[in-house]
Amino acid sequence: MQPGMNIVVVGTQWGDEGKGKVVDLLSEQADVIVRFGGGNNAGHTLVVDGRQLVLHLVPSGVLHANKRVVLGDGMVVDPAALLEELAHLERSGLSLGPQELLLSSKAHLILPYHRALDELRETTTGALGTTRRGIGPAYEDKAARRGLRAGDLLHPARLRARLEAALAEANRRIVGAGGTPHALEQVLEPLERHGAQLAPHVADTSLFLDQQARAGRRLLFEGAQGVLLDLDHGTYPFVTSSTTLGGGVSAGAGFAAHRIDLVVGVAKAYVTRVGDGPFPTELAGEAGATLRARGKEYGATTGRPRRCGWLDLPALRYAARVGGVQALALTKLDVLSEVDPLKVCVAYELEGRRVEDFPADPDDLARAAPVLVEVAPFSGELARANAFEEMPENARRYIELIERESGLPVRWVSLGPGREQTLIRQPLSL
Ligand code: IMP
Repeated sequence: MQPGMNIVVVGTQWGDEGKGKVVDLLSEQADVIVRFGGGNNAGHTLVVDGRQLVLHLVPSGVLHANKRVVLGDGMVVDPAALLEELAHLERSGLSLGPQELLLSSKAHLILPYHRALDELRETTTGALGTTRRGIGPAYEDKAARRGLRAGDLLHPARLRARLEAALAEANRRIVGAGGTPHALEQVLEPLERHGAQLAPHVADTSLFLDQQARAGRRLLFEGAQGVLLDLDHGTYPFVTSSTTLGGGVSAGAGFAAHRIDLVVGVAKAYVTRVGDGPFPTELAGEAGATLRARGKEYGATTGRPRRCGWLDLPALRYAARVGGVQALALTKLDVLSEVDPLKVCVAYELEGRRVEDFPADPDDLARAAPVLVEVAPFSGELARANAFEEMPENARRYIELIERESGLPVRWVSLGPGREQTLIRQPLSL
């Protein structure tokens, strides 16, 4: 990355594309790594020096030395979960003080009653298959203008008053859903304790990012989930409650869109989805189970088995369009090695018609049958390839097909979980 370069990384599918690894890789060249949406529904599994580390709130790039990380305005942050993650990192030898980790005063707080509501809804009718971390209910309170924000942690009287009002409303909803109401003091006491610990981290992060960018520092914005889970553009209502697009940086970090130099979209070589909702290329039975086992496709946050299917090219084109993606990082190509037959979806069939574009109406998507084409399978030790040219010919063709169909260059190819198992086809320069 050149001095002053600002990059965004987003997922192009339903999350779990391997963004954590790509962010970790690019972070080496960045000074500040920023989350701009979502909360601890995200989960990044990183393998560094053979050691596995799972992060939910703190950006993946933190594992490199001398990085500063920001939890941006558009996030919803569970104070207890953040403190637990900081303690987990500390046990791994990484201590993040207020200089290293900044929490936006505008980020909304996830409180126990949000988790309770999420849980209640997921166990009754209308379940969406959420991560049950309270994400949706916290964003609902934000939109309803009764949410508590990290900045409130600095003002005890305000914190109590806002909590009192928000809790009264939450308890009405909890009781209506058949749950037990939460007592004010039971929520407030731990919140004040956590608030005192987090207070030194609370900052005007938009101002901080502006100052950093003006000083020529390189900013890396780490998206959470994926474009197909975006609140507006995803497969509504089977979506998360925040913006997952490249453009989300503008609102979610208070950093103007025109200052972004590159939006990188991460695409897995096949597709997975956790939670409910349409998934045209899903593989049922044995074939799906094989892909799940080969790719170790279990949720980093909830441990749920991920639904698996073939690469969906119309969905990728759509994600590139609405997500503002300019270049791709392709992950887990090694998992497809020896998968035979190997297929990709090039269009859909809807009511007897061939449709090339991802349907805007999720009901159409649910009814769409994938038009699958068989591509030449590849085998061999992909992980040993040190350059694109060293990869098996059919693996190269698979990548070229993605480039042709998406109209985007595949600049990174990940061939295994380790940092070193990545082919960089085009280094970062403008
Ligand atoms: P929520 O974000 O917990 O409200 O869940 C809404 C939907 O988004 C569910 O289908 C979740 O499984 C999905 N989801 C949320 N975060 C992630 C993620 O990081 N990876 C994959 N799916 C996610």
